[in-house]
Amino acid sequence: MSYDLTDKTILVTGANRGIGKAIVETFLERGARKVYAGVRKLDSALALFERHGDRVQAVHLDLLDLASIGAAAIATKDVDIVINNAAILENCSPLDEHAVDLWREQSQVNVEGLLHMARAFAPNLQSKRGTFIQINSSAAMRCSARFSIYAATKAAAYLICQGLKEELAHAGIRMLSIHPGPMRTDMAVKAKIDDMAEPPETVAEDILQALEGEQFLVFSGSVARAVGEAYAEFAKAYIE
Ligand SMILES: NC(=O)c1ccc[n+]([C@@H]2O[C@H](COP(=O)([O-])OP(=O)(O)OC[C@H]3O[C@@H](n4cnc5c(N)ncnc54)[C@H](OP(=O)(O)O)[C@@H]3O)[C@@H](O)[C@H]2O)c1
Repeated sequence: MSYDLTDKTILVTGANRGIGKAIVETFLERGARKVYAGVRKLDSALALFERHGDRVQAVHLDLLDLASIGAAAIATKDVDIVINNAAILENCSPLDEHAVDLWREQSQVNVEGLLHMARAFAPNLQSKRGTFIQINSSAAMRCSARFSIYAATKAAAYLICQGLKEELAHAGIRMLSIHPGPMRTDMAVKAKIDDMAEPPETVAEDILQALEGEQFLVFSGSVARAVGEAYAEFAKAYIE
């Protein structure tokens, strides 16, 4: 039996393409009542609306714009599951002359964005005893030089998720930290890992499977699962 989405309303950030779009479409195909597609430009969700009708509602949400996050939280009080998926990646070695600037730029979206999202949506999720899901990366556990700055933002987000797991549990909210490996999206092309990438729907399926269980930490795709297997003993002792 797969996780029952029929009475569930979901919000996904970065919903217009890549993994976010795959999550929206998979969840709708599995019977979700409604999906709020969090997007920076409302017209980028048009294709989703044309395909799925009014079960998709576009919501303006830019992780760099605190007011948009607050307004989105007010407009989506009925949400059961929030999936903070949006992130940015820039290839950059730690010795690159722009490393510090790129760290700041990516941290603003990938780390500060998570903090803003968790704070804004916790009250909504508390009233529904809902779930907050952060899309992290297997790069939070290991990385190559060329994306170590991005990976460091994902490692920071992962540690914040560990803190959120504890805090949100007091409010009856479940926290999930999802760590995909290479998935076929624009980001994978930019990171030059598209040759080993899997379909982005893999992440959606792995989230659905995880929602049935009780774990916090989820590795998605074959590359990430290998990392997860090596990490399992530590995770069992200290994380889960
Ligand atoms: N693809 C992979 O191999 C892979 C592997 C591990 C983890 N991940 C993680 O999976 C998630 C999705 O990645 P992806 O591959 O689908 O990326 P993607 O194809 O580059 O799509 C990124 C999405 O994030 C949105 N976004 C960017 N900046 C934003 C901001 N400031 N506020 C709100 N939305 C913003 C983009 O919107 P616009 O269209 O408006 O730019 C787009 O919808 C990310 O957290 C990424 O780190 C990806």
